[in-house]
Amino acid sequence: MKKAVKITDGIYRLGANIKNGDLFEGMWPIPDGVSLNCYIVKGAKTALIDLVGDWAQAPSDIKKQLESIPVKLSEIDYLVLNHIEPDHTSWLEDFLKEAPQIELVTNKKGAALVESFYGITENVRVIDTGDTISLGDNKELIFHNIPNVHWPETMITFEKESGILFSCDAFGSYGSIKDSVFDDEISEKDHNFFDVESLRYYANIVSSFSKFVLKAIEKLSIYDIKVIAPSHGIIWRENPGEIIERYRKFAQYLEGPAEPEITVIWGSMYGNTEKILHSVIKGIRSESVPVHVHRVPDEDVSWALASAWKSRGLVFGMPTYEYKMFPPIASVLNMFNLKHVYNKKVFRFGSFGWSGGAQKEFDAATEGMKWDFIDPLEWKGKADEDIHEQAFERGRQLALMIKEQ
Ligand SMILES: Cc1cc2nc3c(=O)[nH]c(=O)nc-3n(C[C@H](O)[C@H](O)[C@H](O)COP(=O)(O)O)c2cc1C
Ligand SMILES: [Fe+2]
Ligand SMILES: [Fe+2]
Repeated sequence: MKKAVKITDGIYRLGANIKNGDLFEGMWPIPDGVSLNCYIVKGAKTALIDLVGDWAQAPSDIKKQLESIPVKLSEIDYLVLNHIEPDHTSWLEDFLKEAPQIELVTNKKGAALVESFYGITENVRVIDTGDTISLGDNKELIFHNIPNVHWPETMITFEKESGILFSCDAFGSYGSIKDSVFDDEISEKDHNFFDVESLRYYANIVSSFSKFVLKAIEKLSIYDIKVIAPSHGIIWRENPGEIIERYRKFAQYLEGPAEPEITVIWGSMYGNTEKILHSVIKGIRSESVPVHVHRVPDEDVSWALASAWKSRGLVFGMPTYEYKMFPPIASVLNMFNLKHVYNKKVFRFGSFGWSGGAQKEFDAATEGMKWDFIDPLEWKGKADEDIHEQAFERGRQLALMIKEQ
């Protein structure tokens, strides 16, 4: 988008799309890109809410869009930093060279991060929850800390007159912005796309902080929120409640039960485990429970994590490898542990050659994740008909447990 998008009088969205090919946080695939949004609030004084990283063409896009309003860099009085992660701040040092008059506004923890990341200590106003800045012309910003969503310094900015909540990473999503940035202007297909990509973003970035997300939603309920304007993804002006409720639901998956669905994650070297996979899936489908299948390492863990986060049931198919788990699955489990994929019903199956070992390591690796297991299924080499039948039955058993929960 070449022009800033007006949200209401004096308030504009500026944004850049980071295209496919880059990785978010240096590790998460973004085949459909991600948007970096920031906002201008213009009263008698002008505030820029959040910046963008010095990532691809983002700084030049933002500059062009400022010109379209028009707002000169020299006319901006405040830069509010809701969150210091470099996807929103790595342009900061160069940006301030062009606009040295700008006062940075952030909380105490944010100020400490601005110093440690960028060595900036001058011209920083430290604010706390409830503090306000009046911009004149009925524009007033109020700040509220929402710690650990997902960094310790995270906060939001609320503009009182318009009811716009500038939520930074909270209520965000992967995915580039196409023709429109507003929830009421995008097609149903694009809504479905952002449904899926907001879950993947949540599972990848925010899931381990779910308790803090619930606290933040509670805290923010004191505001009469008319619009949610995050720093990634679309702006919710017709139905801001939709993204709030979506985030509440995602956060509640932590304690479970999540959706009555099963995610199957599998890997196989020579096909012995793979053949049994089909019987397990047939067993699950015989009870009409939706099943999502992810093979590793072919597919990045980002997607398996998203569907596991929202599923009540998990299935792991893997052989033994050097007396241990098949390494790509070990790596998935490590990620699931880190991201708090807890409170699931779980089944594991797989082939071994002589003495096995995967199951022992699997049991140890999943301790503490509050998983409720059904009996695992292991066999030597190629599976016979009896193993196929048992695999079908275990799939069915797990599906029944999921439905009853
Ligand atoms: C590199 C490698 C290491 C293996 N290590 C073990 C092992 O430590 N213990 C064991 O019982 N089987 C081991 N196996 C045998 C496999 O577990 C067995 O071939 C199994 O059927 C493979 O299942 P898949 O066809 O699904 O890959 C190993 C196989 C390979 C190729
Ligand atoms: Fe972030
Ligand atoms: Fe971000």
